[in-house]
Amino acid sequence: MIASATLAQQLQLVYLLEKEDLAETGKQFLAGLRQTPKTISPRYFYDAVGSDLFEKICDLPEYYPTRTEASILKQFAPEIAAITGNAELIELGSGSSTKTRFLLDAYQTFGQLDYVPVDVSASIVELAAASLLKEYQNLTVTGLIGTYEQAIAHLPDPHDLPRMLIFLGSTLGNFSPSECDQFFAHTRRSLRMGDYFLLGVDRHKSTEILEAAYNDRQGITAAFNLNMLTHLNQRYGGNFDVKNFAHRAIYNTEKCQIEMYLDCKKSQSVHFAALDTTIEFAAGESILTEISRKFHVDQLQTYLVQQGLKTVKMWGDRQDYFGLVLTQAI
Ligand SMILES: C[S@@+](CC[C@H](N)C(=O)[O-])C[C@H]1O[C@@H](n2cnc3c(N)ncnc32)[C@H](O)[C@@H]1O
Repeated sequence: MIASATLAQQLQLVYLLEKEDLAETGKQFLAGLRQTPKTISPRYFYDAVGSDLFEKICDLPEYYPTRTEASILKQFAPEIAAITGNAELIELGSGSSTKTRFLLDAYQTFGQLDYVPVDVSASIVELAAASLLKEYQNLTVTGLIGTYEQAIAHLPDPHDLPRMLIFLGSTLGNFSPSECDQFFAHTRRSLRMGDYFLLGVDRHKSTEILEAAYNDRQGITAAFNLNMLTHLNQRYGGNFDVKNFAHRAIYNTEKCQIEMYLDCKKSQSVHFAALDTTIEFAAGESILTEISRKFHVDQLQTYLVQQGLKTVKMWGDRQDYFGLVLTQAI
């Protein structure tokens, strides 16, 4: 057990979100609601309740991605560490950092270790950092609470050790192709040639397995999807009536993506007091709240080279459900 004075020295939390301009993010949020179909960014899933529900999703029997990626990391983290050598570990969308522990175990062999979790959800970073510091002796944690863009802009440059960006949970799949381009253009600028980017990606598979994973029998994914409306009510002074909406997730085989919707059960006006705006919703209308693209790894590797990242090695599971790709900046 580490004394609390020592814990404080090993922990730094940086609240970048405080600098967020609500009027500006509100403008983007409203622009999404004026599109067809109406669209809300998946970042709004993640308040404290949403992060907690996501952790429950990770443990669902139907939700294979977390346990599959965890098993790959468990087996291959020592090999990843042996390839990269000691590195600065920066995890984007770190959530509870549960699977990251396999990497931290492996990188601990280099001695003192610096870990930088980045997430928009403050509560999950605070909890994860506190428990990591209790578990690991030679660890310092600098939690960056903010968006990927805010965190990348905050990273020190130049850096001494090789840097490894880590992006697990197939969170990459939540980006449209153009958002992916922007994400890599942005993140690649924080890497020097020879630095690393470790990506966990969900692979294309049968519609049956995919749709079951996003429509679990206990209704946790439905609660997660609907919680976004409660979060938006709090954030923008909205009056969404959650019971007027229903969760739906389908696999779009043409686009190789799960599409998660909130279907509007009856026509209604929703007012956002903080944005001084009312939006109309028609009965039967669907709001797109998340896409989760499923990847063909050979196509992904070709794409990554175009983004300035060449594959060093890729690992997977026996069923080819999930892939872990270690890339290097070129
Ligand atoms: C799908 S979860 C993955 C969590 C974890 N990496 C895992 O594999 O279990 C996505 C995480 O990214 C965070 N997130 C979503 N959008 C974000 C953004 N724009 N900037 C920073 N973090 C974001 C969420 O709060 C959430 O913890």
